[in-house]
Amino acid sequence: MQPNRVDAVFLDRDGVINELIFHEESGVIDSPFTVGQLKLLPRVGAAIKLLNDNNIKVIVVSNQPGVARDHFTEAILEETTDKLKDELAAQGARLDGVYYCLHHPEAPNPKYLKICDCRKPKPGLILTAARELAVDPGHSYIVGDNLSDIKAGKAAGCKTILLGKPKCELCQLMESENVRPDHIAVNLYEAVQIVLTNGDMLTKGGKSKMEMFLDTASLEEIKAILPWGVITGLTTNQKIFLAEKGCNFRQRVQGILSLIEGPVSVEVTSSSLNELIREAREFASWDNSKIVIKVPMFGDGRGLHAASLLDKEGIKTNVTALMSTRQVWLAARAGATFASIFFNRVKDHGDDPEKVVAESRSLIDRGNFKTKIIVGSIRKPEDVMQAALAGAHIVTIPYKILKQMPLHPKTEETIAEFDRAWEEFKKAEAK
Ligand code: E4P
Repeated sequence: MQPNRVDAVFLDRDGVINELIFHEESGVIDSPFTVGQLKLLPRVGAAIKLLNDNNIKVIVVSNQPGVARDHFTEAILEETTDKLKDELAAQGARLDGVYYCLHHPEAPNPKYLKICDCRKPKPGLILTAARELAVDPGHSYIVGDNLSDIKAGKAAGCKTILLGKPKCELCQLMESENVRPDHIAVNLYEAVQIVLTNGDMLTKGGKSKMEMFLDTASLEEIKAILPWGVITGLTTNQKIFLAEKGCNFRQRVQGILSLIEGPVSVEVTSSSLNELIREAREFASWDNSKIVIKVPMFGDGRGLHAASLLDKEGIKTNVTALMSTRQVWLAARAGATFASIFFNRVKDHGDDPEKVVAESRSLIDRGNFKTKIIVGSIRKPEDVMQAALAGAHIVTIPYKILKQMPLHPKTEETIAEFDRAWEEFKKAEAK
């Protein structure tokens, strides 16, 4: 599959879009048997909307043997589907197609008794939907909570995402049945992040390469990390400079510029618009090809005004301290080169930083803005991956976090084991 093209995401329904129901009377966990039992899982609307916004078709492909087993009628199934569509529409999301297999090989109701080609794990339902909706399964994903979804997806040629937790019972079954999904995600929202970022998907905004910047003003830290070959830019702020107190600001920035090849963000500290612009012009004059002016998103719009003026002068800006999607959108509209979302500060405020990043990325791609999202305020190595998978163009990482990223205890154990083997081999060779 070309990494830059996704036509469709096929979704299993129960357990992926809506909750599975425990039916007390029969003691089974199954699909909703009544319209009232349909309840969407958390963040499903937002996940589907992201796919809609990226022009990726969303197609439900679901076995519904409940009709064949007389748990509910076709009319109830239709009403349940209408309710599902209405609830998604209320969240701004839509399904491009809904395909059900109503058959069952042991159906008590003869109308549905059939060994068909559409019941997953067979690929018939996916292939029919793909043909009717003109999508290429080879450029599509399937997301399911069952191995039958993964098997059907693989047989149709799709990439596969299993919803579950690594080491769950299903994973053990995967071993015995030798079926392995391409990815495992905890929920549909996470699965959609995988779809949208896997292989650096080409969106309207153009091909994006996810980058790493270093969040520091220490020359020692830069020198220690640069040889790794992973850093393409740098960000600073007043707190970062406080950690270097005693140095001369301009000399230190020039020292940084002599080491870093890419963009270097330095923040303006004045309060009036005129002073902000004066300060920005002065910093930019040190090296306009690399210097990026960090402008705070002041609540009165001053930062946006400054970013817009600087953009017209050809000075790059990084509108910073962003905590919400609407602020990112404003920054993009003002012509910001970069927009900095503060991941853990968004979380500290009680909001979901992954959602802010994903929504912001979607808006930037849809609007074809040049603005790149930088995610800062990183406190743990896991934050880096969450930010990147949510759609950040760039994650800016403090030295102490970046230093922890290559380390994995199992890797250490493996290296030690191989070293011991090599020693033994060399000893035997010397004899
Ligand atoms: C980056 O651009 C930010 O200035 C920085 O990451 C903020 O991080 P903090 O929330 O740890 O201060």
